[in-house]
Amino acid sequence: MKDLSAAAWNDHYLEGITPWDLQGPCPQILEFTKEPWFSSTASILLPGAGRGHDAIALASMGHNVSAVDFAPGAIKALLQQAKEKKQNVHVFQRDFFSLSNDPFHKERYDIIIEYTFFCAIDPKLRANYIKLAHQLLRPNGYFAGIFFPTTNDKEPPPFVVDREEVLSLFKEGFTGEICEPNISIKPRKGREFLGIFKKTKPQ
Ligand SMILES: C[S@@+](CC[C@H](N)C(=O)[O-])C[C@H]1O[C@@H](n2cnc3c(N)ncnc32)[C@H](O)[C@@H]1O
Repeated sequence: MKDLSAAAWNDHYLEGITPWDLQGPCPQILEFTKEPWFSSTASILLPGAGRGHDAIALASMGHNVSAVDFAPGAIKALLQQAKEKKQNVHVFQRDFFSLSNDPFHKERYDIIIEYTFFCAIDPKLRANYIKLAHQLLRPNGYFAGIFFPTTNDKEPPPFVVDREEVLSLFKEGFTGEICEPNISIKPRKGREFLGIFKKTKPQ
């Protein structure tokens, strides 16, 4: 398997080889903000936030946004962009999994938005990711995921996603469903799906 360490991800940012980067906010995430469950006062967490286009777009809409990424190159670009656009984002340069059992983050977030983090981590860590998401969400908080890619003919990452797998990961402690995106960027059309899950049970 390819190296998935922070150093390896950082090399991509240093070399400017970041094919996942949309160079602007993901249109489906902007669609999420119109949903009834997306409250205007929501405290939002973005795991694996990259250069922070989504984080900054959400902050500019008045949301309280926290972004986590362990690659210093991604964080540098995020902070630079936030400064230029005069937006305030809470930025955490650390391994997302290190938030586990960190009392500061426990039940702190109303919404976790997933885009291209689930497919970037070792698939063996997926169950831990969703367990941790449950810990970080407030009661009745939402996990809103855009799961990509359902197919991939190149060496991963991205690791492929599957509807049944996602549903089974959210069986405990969540209620929700898989549905189709309102909008996908052209090269990803037909290769992604949404999973919107509400935290139902306390820890
Ligand atoms: C495919 S990129 C997606 C970035 C961003 N979501 C976007 O769409 O541009 C995956 C990101 O997750 C970060 N990442 C991977 N594993 C991580 C981990 N365990 N903790 C924190 N960040 C991680 C990488 O540094 C990278 O920025």
